[in-house]
Amino acid sequence: MTLRIDVISLFPGIFPGPLAESIPGRAMERGLVELRAHDLREWGLGRHRSVDDYPFGGGAGMILRPEPIAGALRALSRKEGSTSVLLDPGGRTFDQATARDLARSDHLILICPRYEGVDHRVRSMVDREVSIGDYVLSGGELPALVIIDAVVRLVPGVIDAASSIEESFSEGLLEYPQYTRPADFEGDAVPPVLLSGHHGEVARWRREQGLERTRRERPDMLPTGDDGEPT
Ligand code: ADE
Repeated sequence: MTLRIDVISLFPGIFPGPLAESIPGRAMERGLVELRAHDLREWGLGRHRSVDDYPFGGGAGMILRPEPIAGALRALSRKEGSTSVLLDPGGRTFDQATARDLARSDHLILICPRYEGVDHRVRSMVDREVSIGDYVLSGGELPALVIIDAVVRLVPGVIDAASSIEESFSEGLLEYPQYTRPADFEGDAVPPVLLSGHHGEVARWRREQGLERTRRERPDMLPTGDDGEPT
């Protein structure tokens, strides 16, 4: 299966950017992922290919008009189904579960607004509104890069299944500490269990360490009992 991703942006030159390297770069070279960036102005209005206008009711900044985005979605959507995502700081916060959901689709359309955002009527044209966190960026392009990176890793064949399952968040825990050589770095030694060769003990130690680290750093990730406290 190939995951096709169409990005709609006023700055399509931002793509593929960092996605050309490493794991996502290889996924694209191998044809597992096909990424295309489109200039929203292709669907702009009039001789000037205008895409924005002043807000009704007054206020600062410009708002993206609905027609160019509607045109882009009409042109790019597939008959068999596509998943459209509007990047917006007011959307649902992106997480690993959302990445898994999006990776189930074989066609994503990501819309990256700039300026003060989009005409409200755009929201009813898309399947999801997604934020990458509670901070405001200058546009949706960096969030789109983040989302594409997280999703591409989950496309079958991109990385071997064992490492994507073991990664933080997939099992609901942070990752256990990892070590490589040297066994002793300036007096700081690798935990002996990792050198023991006992696979069962290594697995138990890793699980305990992952749990402990999660309790310490991210107690909000642990399942809670009826009293709302971590179990
Ligand atoms: N556009 C601007 N800030 C954003 C954010 N945090 N997430 C998604 N899109 C955005």
